[in-house]
Amino acid sequence: MTTGDSETGPQQQRPQEKRPAPGVSRRGFLLGSGAGVGVGAAASAVLWRPWVTGDPTAESPGRASGSAEAGRPVDSRGRHQAGVDRPQTPQANALFVIADVPKTSSTEVFEMLANLGEGIDSLTDPKGHLTEVLPDDPGDLVITVGIGPQLVSLIDPDLPGAEPLPEFGSDTELEISGGDVLLALYATDVTVLHSAAMHLLDLVPDASVRWVQAGHRGPGEGTVARNPFGYHDGVVVPRTDEELAENVWIQGGPAAGGTVCVLRRMSLDVSAFRALGPGAQDAVFGRHRDDGRPMSGGSPTDEVDLTARTETGDLTIPLRAHARAAHPSFTGSPLMLRRSYGFAEPDTLEEGMVFVCFQNDLEAFVRTQHRMDETDDLMNFVTTTASASFLILPGRTGDQPLGSSLRS
Ligand code: HEM
Repeated sequence: MTTGDSETGPQQQRPQEKRPAPGVSRRGFLLGSGAGVGVGAAASAVLWRPWVTGDPTAESPGRASGSAEAGRPVDSRGRHQAGVDRPQTPQANALFVIADVPKTSSTEVFEMLANLGEGIDSLTDPKGHLTEVLPDDPGDLVITVGIGPQLVSLIDPDLPGAEPLPEFGSDTELEISGGDVLLALYATDVTVLHSAAMHLLDLVPDASVRWVQAGHRGPGEGTVARNPFGYHDGVVVPRTDEELAENVWIQGGPAAGGTVCVLRRMSLDVSAFRALGPGAQDAVFGRHRDDGRPMSGGSPTDEVDLTARTETGDLTIPLRAHARAAHPSFTGSPLMLRRSYGFAEPDTLEEGMVFVCFQNDLEAFVRTQHRMDETDDLMNFVTTTASASFLILPGRTGDQPLGSSLRS
């Protein structure tokens, strides 16, 4: 098969680095998840598996932490919040909590953020954390805070992250979207996540939990780990300080040092995908399943060559392969930092992935998703059930309260 240039795409110049239901009260929600009471039918439809689904005694958290960093404290202070590019190997376990809060005034939003910042310090300080909440060492617990479009707009409608996500063509099964506050908690020790999340929610007056999802990553070094389809994921992402500055961190204005996060809960039809057989599976991604190397050749960490052809003239990266559909050269977008977590729900056997990405311009995600909806065979196996975007606040240094730079 041969195609014109517009389909093969102008290969973007990138550094060829070799890379080593709304309205559920918090208390009602928690009771509902723990004791099976208190959550109405409408709400339970969107609260898939409240709280941690991981088995603390299972082997995976330890095994998945195969990196040298695993378990070591991660500094929550700095120009950027932790949980985006640090630690370099994302922790094995995640808990994403998305809550709504009363939208009264920006003053109250700043107060809430300051409380959350202090709460995070009290949980993650390796020299003196709150033992009432976490009796033992918090290890590499990290909590990243974001605010949704309505809260961002309340502060300043011109800030990045004020624009909500549009509805996409593939969003036909979407059960819930949006949310005011994102608490993204990550740790090698799965048992700390629940307690830490509950403590932080207690610091947010009148919060109602909108949706929650736990997720887990397989073993891996750096950003790469196998996704629930069994493929290496997180290969082509910005890594160096220059790449992160260009693609991920907001560069100027009150939100400088922050980023825009998109969170999509995706149900995956892994059985149907597996039934394709090995060759056809590779064609869906444009990479080989065994070690992740591109179908266009090279090593597992190489980028795909969208122009490469076989001896008979066919494109080696198929026209509807995910690596082609999502490639930034077609959208003119910056490269997003992807940091996803898989899940498998023991009660329903549903398999899925919390797709998490960070970029300094929401449009990078929007354009890519529109293109995937049109030209990506991967979407045949994906049903998006929840979707939200957040402004991830800049990091903090000194006594600066979380979110205070947005006051200016
Ligand atoms: C179930 C959902 C998804 C799965 C299983 C998945 C998996 C993958 C895999 C295996 C790769 C190739 C290796 C790599 O570079 O990491 C990849 C690349 C990529 N994906 Fe996804 N992905 C999913 C959804 C998305 C979504 C929703 C977006 C954004 C809208 C996206 C954007 C990208 C980008 C930008 C690349 C890099 C393409 C390149 O430059 O080579 N993916 N994804």
